[in-house]
Amino acid sequence: MSDARCKGPTGRRDTAAFAITPPQIVGPFYPIRERPDLASDLARPLGSAAEAQGQLIYVRGRVLTSSGEPVSHALIDVWQANAAGKYRHPSDMNPAPLDPNFKGFARLTADASGGYSFRTIKPGRYPTPEGEIRPPHIHLTVEGRFDRLVTQLYFAGEAENLIDRWLNAAPHPDRLIVKLQEPPPHLEKHAMIAHFDIVLASG
Ligand SMILES: [Fe+2]
Repeated sequence: MSDARCKGPTGRRDTAAFAITPPQIVGPFYPIRERPDLASDLARPLGSAAEAQGQLIYVRGRVLTSSGEPVSHALIDVWQANAAGKYRHPSDMNPAPLDPNFKGFARLTADASGGYSFRTIKPGRYPTPEGEIRPPHIHLTVEGRFDRLVTQLYFAGEAENLIDRWLNAAPHPDRLIVKLQEPPPHLEKHAMIAHFDIVLASG
């Protein structure tokens, strides 16, 4: 699902290209008034021992071009709802509670190999003003030197993935869906890993 490598109709990997990550809308909750955390930990406020509520996850992967080259030092903005499905944004009318230990907006820089990682919680589903339920998702913008992608990451096994019109408007929705995996031994036992490679059309 999150394997960015292209596979042809025979199931063999195409040699030329990695599959470009589909775009998604920015949506109404990009936090234009908030200053982003420059740390890669959204699940714990800076200098605090308190943790945000929800399933702890590590989202990690690489930013690549469609030819498989790393996009070194790509700039990544991350924003998402808390575990109750609430954004810390004045436009969010969802009556769900804010989590004082979850800000939900961070800015990261990929390393020289295009690698990135952040620690957060799995966001909750939330209702739209039209009465639809959006599946859990994380918003991302990814900026290389020549290209900028706005997209959303989704989680496998969510019933709303099948009907969400934003996800299903993507040319290849499966490229935006990740399956949570067990953590390696050096991370918290209760954490899960979301591996998400992000492929830009150009670097
Ligand atoms: Fe959203």
